Order: sequence, then C-alpha cells, then structure tokens
Amino acid sequence: MKIAIVGTGYVGLVTGTCFSEMGIDVTCVDVQESKIKSLKKGIIPIYEPGLEDMVHRNYTAGRLKFATDLEECLDEVEVV
Ligand SMILES: NC(=O)c1ccc[n+]([C@@H]2O[C@H](COP(=O)([O-])OP(=O)(O)OC[C@H]3O[C@@H](n4cnc5c(N)ncnc54)[C@H](O)[C@@H]3O)[C@@H](O)[C@H]2O)c1
Repeated sequence: MKIAIVGTGYVGLVTGTCFSEMGIDVTCVDVQESKIKSLKKGIIPIYEPGLEDMVHRNYTAGRLKFATDLEECLDEVEVV
C-alpha cells in the first residue's frame, strides 16, 4: 500500500515513519524545503526515542520518501 502524510513535524514524521516500519510505502510531504532537504540527508528535526534509526532504516530501504509537492505524489498514493 502507498500513502502520503502531510507535514513532517511531531505527528507526521512519527506516524509516517511507523507506517513505513510496518511495510507501507510512505511519502512524507512538507512545505518547508529546508526540512525536507535535511531529512533526505538523515537529519531529524525532532527527538523521539528510536526515531532516527527507524527513519534511516526505512529511507535506505526505499519505503520512506520525502517530498515538498503533494500534488506530484497524488497519482501514486491511495491514502493521504
Ligand atoms: N503534537 C501533538 O501532540 C498534537 C496533538 C494533537 C493535535 N496536534 C495537531 O496536529 C497537527 C500537527 O502537529 P505537530 O505537532 O506535528 O506540528 P509541527 O509544527 O511539529 O509540524 C507541522 C508540520 O506541517 C508542515 N506543514 C504546514 N502546512 C503544510 C502544508 N500545507 N503542506 C505540507 N506541510 C505543511 C509544517 O511545515 C510542519 O513541518 C497540528 O494541527 C496540531 O495542532 C498535535
């Protein structure tokens, strides 16, 4: 299943990462380009125990993606 999550703050990043850990293909979208650039480099903007490892693992596996344009991924996902 492919889903998109809007916002990569405390709620969106944690939720999206946990879904990807469950094997779901997740694109996390945020309007802040700098935040998305950092996430793609593995820099996590918040602290939650275990989150950094989980983001790295799922990003590397290709199950977790980061983007700034929600419209661009709408054709690919079933749920936003
Ligand atoms: N954090 C909590 O415990 C909590 C509890 C209940 C409700 N909420 C609600 O959940 C929502 C998210 O909370 P949070 O703590 O993750 O906030 P946050 O500020 O940490 O993250 C929100 C993210 O959404 C992004 N964003 C804003 N508008 C956007 C748009 N149009 N498209 C894409 N990205 C966009 C922001 O750039 C930011 O990175 C808020 O509405 C908040 O009120 C949060």
